[in-house]
Amino acid sequence: MSSSVPTWTRVRSLWTHPTAPDCVHVIDQRALPHRLEIVELATADDAARAISDMVVRGAPLIGVVAAWGLALAARRAAPGSAAGAVEEAAARLCATRPTARDLFVAVERQLAVSAGCRDDAGRREALVRSASAFTEESAAACRRIGLHGLSIVEAAARRSPARPLRIMTHCNAGRLGCVELGTATAPIYLARARGLDVFVWVSETRPRNQGALTCWELAEAGVPHALVVDSAAGHWLQRGEVDLVLVGADRITRRGDAANKIGTLLKALAARDAGVPFHVAAPWTTFDLSIEDGVAGIPIEERAEAEVRFVEGTLNGGRARVAVHPHSTPIRNPAFDVTPARLITGLITDRGCCAAAEGEILRLAREESGWPS
Ligand code: MRU
Repeated sequence: MSSSVPTWTRVRSLWTHPTAPDCVHVIDQRALPHRLEIVELATADDAARAISDMVVRGAPLIGVVAAWGLALAARRAAPGSAAGAVEEAAARLCATRPTARDLFVAVERQLAVSAGCRDDAGRREALVRSASAFTEESAAACRRIGLHGLSIVEAAARRSPARPLRIMTHCNAGRLGCVELGTATAPIYLARARGLDVFVWVSETRPRNQGALTCWELAEAGVPHALVVDSAAGHWLQRGEVDLVLVGADRITRRGDAANKIGTLLKALAARDAGVPFHVAAPWTTFDLSIEDGVAGIPIEERAEAEVRFVEGTLNGGRARVAVHPHSTPIRNPAFDVTPARLITGLITDRGCCAAAEGEILRLAREESGWPS
């Protein structure tokens, strides 16, 4: 499997030094695409702040950072207090961002590891080992998503053999939001590695402009692409300029409803009207089988109105922030929306592809792969 993954896609968004697992290094995604800055996370509070402030983002990466946050909590704890420190840190991490399921899967897994340890020394070691395993599993899940999704991308390409395959995506479901390779981008990168001609429509993704992160990744990988404002998506779909929509997810219910970055739902509606297939790619850690109806059951994060009131960019080599709306304008800022299963053509997971339907999802849930179900 690994031989078909291009080596540059293994450049990671998070790493530890093999001999110094006391510190986790991450890319500061707020500085991209203008500057590549690395941030060190030395404590559980650093990890929680990095998640809240979106230094790191994307459901799989949020989960991995939370797992490391709990390992750091145990390592920094005063003698005899590691168990309590881990529990406090777990509560703090769970309060950062409510929508990404992966965060809660990671915390639950680490709490179970901690509960199974008899003393602080064992707890420290076990939590580092488990965070490290979670990181590797997350990377492997994206590689499997890429391989499973490749068949969908190749089938779409066969329907229009005379020109490049035009894929539309939203937000950043790329390697920055994961450990490596990405979720929605994984099949794209693997298709390119096999010589398929692909073009990607990237939506800007207001208010945080994660589309810029996707463009940064695609440019680095040499994948042709164009950035469009979010409200242009319907236009390109209607004109027959999109062959396939491929997005990620932050939480998927047992019936197949998918929460993803705000603006995803409008793309799904426009894709349905235009007769364009709409696929959602996510690892099994993003599935929440305890929820049936995504609209009623998935907690949707509402973020600060300042994210909408101001735009941030670069000016003379530094960060600049300008107001686009006066302080008197009331603002609401939901970070995610829910696309109902009926608008989703299919799900691409590390366990395989399936319809966005309860029976199919439960079939995958039963399959052994070592992931939590
Ligand atoms: O608020 P973010 O940037 O953490 O949200 C991330 C997304 O919604 C992504 O689009 C993605 O699909 C999930 S993570 C690969």
